[in-house]
Amino acid sequence: MLVHFPIALGTVAVGASVASAADVAEPVDMIANFANSGGLIMAMLAMLAGLLELRTIGNQSEAMRVATWHMMIMATVWVCFLVALMLSISTGLDHSTAQIAAAACAVAGFLLMGAGGWYGGRLVYEFGIAVKDQTYRP
Ligand code: HEM
Repeated sequence: MLVHFPIALGTVAVGASVASAADVAEPVDMIANFANSGGLIMAMLAMLAGLLELRTIGNQSEAMRVATWHMMIMATVWVCFLVALMLSISTGLDHSTAQIAAAACAVAGFLLMGAGGWYGGRLVYEFGIAVKDQTYRP
């Protein structure tokens, strides 16, 4: 349930970040930063829930291999969005360079989030992790 929040907020953040880098309108900067911050906070909650769920997966199983990839990719995604936020609010670089670098980090994080989400989906739909009724098999 929690994962929808960082995915939605990350999506808004990447869109607003690209719009800001393209100089579409001034306020999109703020939208990108708010969405990014919210996404980072909600991702921490998703990570906590994921780590708790991880204990239910057998150490040597294929599911654990997939979960490890999922966890490493999502941790990288989190860092990408954090760097994007830091670049966007930093005063050290000139504004347009910072916005372009922030947008590049956000786009990288967004693409990786797709890959990480695919691994997360495998955990649920292929291995039935955290699924109560496991009679459904596609
Ligand atoms: C330490 C980091 C994380 C760990 C250990 C972890 C672990 C897991 C586990 C065990 C599952 C399968 C069972 C369940 O749904 O709880 C899962 C599913 C999933 N996770 Fe994560 N996760 C982490 C971070 C994240 C983050 C930050 C996101 C989103 C940005 C995310 C997105 C997903 C998605 C989309 C699924 C599939 C849910 C579904 O289809 O119902 N995960 N994760």
